[in-house]
Amino acid sequence: MDVAEYDAALTRAHWDLLLQADPWVEAVQAYTPPTCPEAEIFTIGKPRDPYALCVVVPIEGGFEIKNIATKTIMRRQGMASALIARVVGLAQTRGAAIVEIGTATTGRDQIRLYEKCGFKKDGILRDYFAKYPEPIIENGQLVRDMVMLRLTF
Ligand SMILES: CC(C)(COP(=O)(O)OP(=O)(O)OC[C@H]1O[C@@H](n2cnc3c(N)ncnc32)[C@H](O)[C@@H]1OP(=O)(O)O)[C@@H](O)C(=O)NCCC(=O)NCCS
Repeated sequence: MDVAEYDAALTRAHWDLLLQADPWVEAVQAYTPPTCPEAEIFTIGKPRDPYALCVVVPIEGGFEIKNIATKTIMRRQGMASALIARVVGLAQTRGAAIVEIGTATTGRDQIRLYEKCGFKKDGILRDYFAKYPEPIIENGQLVRDMVMLRLTF
């Protein structure tokens, strides 16, 4: 699956995907360009209207995948896995020690996917989503805590 790096301005189609993974616009702005110029964006499909994308930022010792989403009709075809594999490969090439990804503790499917990709649970950020302006409900539960998962090389 072809994964490309995207380095132009974010489009409406990108925002549609980004907000599926993280519904708070200000939070997404904080880790995407131009607010966060060091963020890198990877896409599958048409670069300006992709099937799937992810956002990666540098952190101490490696990289964090801050956002990952696939268009609803294109899910379960391995696109998120391909994006994660690309980020992990790139991180290794760059000499990183870790790659991290966080998701709501209610996100069973996301957690299973990340564990399949080799990530291991590494801690809980209690009340992470309490600061969000609107409550988020996932799998019938109020989203409150974030679980961080880490891949260590
Ligand atoms: C989470 C998300 C990014 C996963 O994207 P995806 O492209 O469907 O992910 P993949 O296809 O790589 O993997 C999803 C599942 O499909 C399976 N799959 C992958 N290729 C497959 C194929 N060809 N046939 C059948 N199943 C397949 C994977 O094994 C995985 O299975 P699992 O449910 O047992 O873990 C997507 O559901 C999404 O955008 N959700 C909304 C936003 C979101 O929650 N983002 C994450 C926030 S942290």
